[in-house]
Amino acid sequence: RRVVPMSVMKLSDDAADLPEKFVKSLGERPTIAHNDYCKEIPVISLKGIESESERARIVAEVGYACAEWGIFQIVDHGVPAELMKSMMENTLGFFKLPLDEKVKYATMPGGFPVGYASGSHRADDDILDWRELMVHRCLPKAVRENDISIWPEKPETYRKTLVEYSDTMGDLVTSLLGLISESLGLPTSYIKNAVGGDDAEQKILFNYYPQCPQPDMTLGLRSHTDYGTITVLQQDDVGGLQAYKEDRDKWVTVEPIPGALVINLGDQIQILSNAKYCSVEHQAVVNSNQTRLSLVTFANPSSTSQMGPAPELLSEENPAKYRSYTMKEYLPICFAKKTKKHYDALVI
Ligand code: SIN
Ligand code: FE2
Repeated sequence: RRVVPMSVMKLSDDAADLPEKFVKSLGERPTIAHNDYCKEIPVISLKGIESESERARIVAEVGYACAEWGIFQIVDHGVPAELMKSMMENTLGFFKLPLDEKVKYATMPGGFPVGYASGSHRADDDILDWRELMVHRCLPKAVRENDISIWPEKPETYRKTLVEYSDTMGDLVTSLLGLISESLGLPTSYIKNAVGGDDAEQKILFNYYPQCPQPDMTLGLRSHTDYGTITVLQQDDVGGLQAYKEDRDKWVTVEPIPGALVINLGDQIQILSNAKYCSVEHQAVVNSNQTRLSLVTFANPSSTSQMGPAPELLSEENPAKYRSYTMKEYLPICFAKKTKKHYDALVI
């Protein structure tokens, strides 16, 4: 039996004022509008990835984007448009269900946050985010097969579509990890192997951000870095994903480009690359007249993976900036919320 956590509530679409528990501190509030897009965030076409010369171009573009931005978009990535559309529709169909139906899938307090929640999936949060969310464990396949019976039964095509989406995103992640490995001068399969090969984890998160009465005072999702390897994000056409460009001390909004997928690097790539690449801080802002959806695929190392800077990249001039560790050690650091940048705990 599932227990409904305190945090499950209806985020009202028509409330005049933002309830106090969503009001963020001044320093956390948005500074850039949800639709004030930054045109400089790299957009990389993966067309011709199989040909040697095009692949060299793609690898160079990926290397630049990883070092300078930590976030970029891809187009011509081969994920079928119908699958992307169908996953959006199924997800929207779920979030549109009455609250009583959604809470059947609510996150269990205490354990790993899997399932439905709103505001936050953390029991110890004082200030909440303006979102509803749903998290599924999708890979390795054995985990998915175990969890699928607790996935939503409505819409009817939800489970089937998510299985296909998970496999498709899994293949895309393998391909992206190959490009990132090559851009670091490592063998194509290097990162995939480092994160546990076929034992690596995939979690899929759906975010639904209702219209918000006072979007300037809150966030849909607070600023954070992703703790895993890389993240593939599909968003609708509303806009709201922002990344912090550290060297400019500025938030930038990612433009929704039809058919594109947003890639952001997680902590594991920053550490593995010995800080050549960056795990970018990001957040989601909301707005007062449109709901927004994002479908987020996290590629994470297997729990037993031994992580750290790749020895092949280290030298006397480039000594390790982080100590090595296992994912079992890393996760509690992330969930302890002591630092926003979890990897700081591993700095040598
Ligand atoms: C996320 O960081 O998980 C999602 C951000 C977004 O909704 O765009
Ligand atoms: Fe994230």
